[in-house]
Amino acid sequence: MVGLSRRTLLKACAGIGAYGAGLGAARLYASDAGSPTVLEARLTEAVLDGRHPTRGVMSWGDGSAGADPMPPVLRMKRGEPFHARLTNRLDEPTTIHWHGLRIDNRMDGVPFLTQPYVYTGDSFDYRFTPPDAGTFWYHPHCNTLTQMGRGMAGLLIVEDPADPQFDAEIAINLRDWRLGDDGQFIEAFKPRDAARNGTFGTVRGANWQVQPSFDAPPGGLVRVRLAATDVTRIYSLRLDGAEALVVALDGQSLPAPQPFQTLVIGPGQRADLVVRMPDGEGQTASLVDIRPSTAKTVASFRSTGSSLKRDIRDTPPLAANPFEAPDLRNAEEIPLILSATAENASRESFCGSLGYSFWAINKVPWPGDTADPTAPLAEMKRGRSYLINLQNTTPHLHPIHLHGMNFQVVSSCVRPVSPLITDTYLVLPDEKVQLALVADNPGDWVMHCHIIEHQKTGMTSYVRVV
Ligand code: C2O
Ligand code: CU
Repeated sequence: MVGLSRRTLLKACAGIGAYGAGLGAARLYASDAGSPTVLEARLTEAVLDGRHPTRGVMSWGDGSAGADPMPPVLRMKRGEPFHARLTNRLDEPTTIHWHGLRIDNRMDGVPFLTQPYVYTGDSFDYRFTPPDAGTFWYHPHCNTLTQMGRGMAGLLIVEDPADPQFDAEIAINLRDWRLGDDGQFIEAFKPRDAARNGTFGTVRGANWQVQPSFDAPPGGLVRVRLAATDVTRIYSLRLDGAEALVVALDGQSLPAPQPFQTLVIGPGQRADLVVRMPDGEGQTASLVDIRPSTAKTVASFRSTGSSLKRDIRDTPPLAANPFEAPDLRNAEEIPLILSATAENASRESFCGSLGYSFWAINKVPWPGDTADPTAPLAEMKRGRSYLINLQNTTPHLHPIHLHGMNFQVVSSCVRPVSPLITDTYLVLPDEKVQLALVADNPGDWVMHCHIIEHQKTGMTSYVRVV
C-alpha cells in the first residue's frame, strides 16, 4: 500500500496538469488583484445533443472570440478577495448569484432586492471574499428559467490552502437541455408539469456533453466535484466499477468520509466524491443516474497510465468551514409551510413571470425572483438563533435554498438526519424538518425552491436580517 502522506500526494499532484488539460471542464480562471475576471453574458452556439449546433445558447465568456461556450469554472481561494466584472451582451437584463457563498448582501445578485438589473450593454462589478472552501456554482437571478435553461449555470470552486491534494480533480456540471430533434430549444416548460415535478429536459448532459468520459490515473484518488445545476432534475447517483467516498455535501466537508452508495442530489446541491480509479489501463467506472427507474450513464472515468495503487482508506477528511452552532434552546421558531395553491392568477413580476401561480410558502404565492411589496417571511435579529420548521404538504420533492447563510439540519419526521450544514435542503413529500441557523449576515435573503418552475410560480420568499 502506498501511504497517502501529504508529501506523497503533493508529489503525485505534479501530474495533475496533464489530466486536467484533457478534462474539458478545466478552463480555470483566477483573478489577480488588478484585473477582474471577465464574465461577458452573451448568446452563443454549442453542440449540446452531440449532433447539432444549438442556437440561442446563453453563457458567459471571457470576451475573446472562439472561447469554450460552457461557462468557465471559476476558481478562487477562501479568505482571498475575488473580483469579477459582469458585462451584459444579452438582449435582456441579467445578474449573477453566487450560490452557497456567504457574502455581502449587495453582491448576492437578486434584482431589486439586492441590486439593480444589469441592462444590456451595462456592467456590474462583483467583489467579495469567500469565507468557505468547497464546491459552489453561479447563475443569474433574472428570467431564470430561460437564462439557466439555456446555459447560464457555472461551477465555482473555492480552494483552501489546507485542502488535501488528490491525484486528479474533475468538476462536473450536471444539467439537461430541452431540445427538439433538430437540436433547437423547445418551449421551456409545460404548465401541467410546472404544477408537478417540473418539466424535464430532453437531452441529458454533463459539462455540456452527452455522457462525457474523463481520463484519470489508474489506482489514483480523484476528487470529483458534482453540482446539480439543472432547473428540474433530481439525481439518484451511483458509481459502477470503482469504489468511492463522499467527502463533502453542498460545499461542506463531512466530519468523516462516507462510503458512496446511492446519493440523491437535487437542483442547487453539490457533492464531492473521492473516486479510487480502477487499476487496469483502459478500465472505466461509470456515474449512473437511477432516477426515476432506468439507469442512465451520466459520465464515466477511464484509467490511463500506470497504476498509482492508492488505498481509498487513506482519503483524508477535508478541512471544515467555519459555522457558528445555533443556540437551539433559545432559538425562535419560524414556520415555513410549502403548499400547492388554488389561486391561479398570473402575478406581476419584475423579472420574467411564467404567468402562473401553482405554489405557496405560508399560503402566499410569490411571483418569482424578486421582492414584491409583500413583507419578508421573517425578520431575524442579527446574531440570534432561529429554527425553521419546514413542512412540505405537497406530494413532490423541493430543494429549498437559502441565500447568504448556512443552516444545519436538526431533525426530520420521516428519516434519521445527520447534522449536515448546508444551503439547500431537499425536502421529501410530507416531510417536516427543522433547520437551525444563526442569523449572522445582515440583509434581505431569498429563500426558494430550486426547481425553477416552482420558484417562479410561487415557491419563493425572503427573510430579513437586521
Ligand atoms: Cu441558486 Cu436563489 O439560487
Ligand atoms: Cu419545488
